Amino acid sequence: MALLRASGLSKTYGQGRLRVEALREVSLSVGVGEAVALMGPSGCGKSTLLNLLGLTLPVTSGELLVRGEPAPTRERDRARLRNEFFGYLHQEFAIVESDTVAANVTIPLEYTRPRIGRRQRLERARRAVESVGLGWALRRRAAELSGGERQRVAIARALVNEPHLVIADEPTAALDLATAREIVTLLLSMRQRGASILVATHDPRVAERCDRVVAMSDGGLAAERTNPHAATGNHGST
Ligand SMILES: Nc1ncnc2c1ncn2[C@@H]1O[C@H](COP(=O)(O)OP(=O)(O)OP(=O)(O)O)[C@@H](O)[C@H]1O
Ligand SMILES: [Mg+2]
Repeated sequence: MALLRASGLSKTYGQGRLRVEALREVSLSVGVGEAVALMGPSGCGKSTLLNLLGLTLPVTSGELLVRGEPAPTRERDRARLRNEFFGYLHQEFAIVESDTVAANVTIPLEYTRPRIGRRQRLERARRAVESVGLGWALRRRAAELSGGERQRVAIARALVNEPHLVIADEPTAALDLATAREIVTLLLSMRQRGASILVATHDPRVAERCDRVVAMSDGGLAAERTNPHAATGNHGST
């Protein structure tokens, strides 16, 4: 069973003369432990697709299955799934600058049901922060870190709830080459714990390290290829 399966997804923004058909009938599956790269020109709908698949935007039409079950429509259920199932990584990091690294990374754990106690939240944050090599920065404020370090904080936050699927929207766009490489290595290493990764990117170096590359154009899927040389995780079906 696919971890995520979308069939005929469409998304329209706005109404009347402001109407934009951002996605038309897109079908895509992500397997367990698989890394999929989404590529395509600016405006082709990559972020829109990530937002639909990650339940941060409602679909206009089409079907979305999460582990074989239709994605919920009630906001409460969607919020819960966002918290338990997904990890998110944004281009601009979305880190709270004035907070410490530890406080940033515990954010996803604050909404978990059943609740996780404060002590355990901090312990899990510490482990996540150490796993991205930033143990020394736990008590530092995010504003005092470099861009690459902040992005590693964002990765720690994306994995602290042990998500099944990490959704990353151009996670390396603001980084230099060496740092971008390191961030992608960290991101892809999440496959080892069974997580899948869906990443929108303009960078072919990022795409070639993923298991599968899906090319988008003008609101639809244009082409798809499998990378035989990508270091694969433990795959399930796709
Ligand atoms: N909130 C919105 N309201 C109206 N139109 C939108 C909205 N968000 C995106 N769009 C439009 O939908 C289309 C797809 O946008 P999207 O952000 O998904 O593209 P993208 O592939 O992620 O581009 P980029 O590579 O520049 O990030 C674009 O034409 C965009 O202008
Ligand atoms: Mg985008």
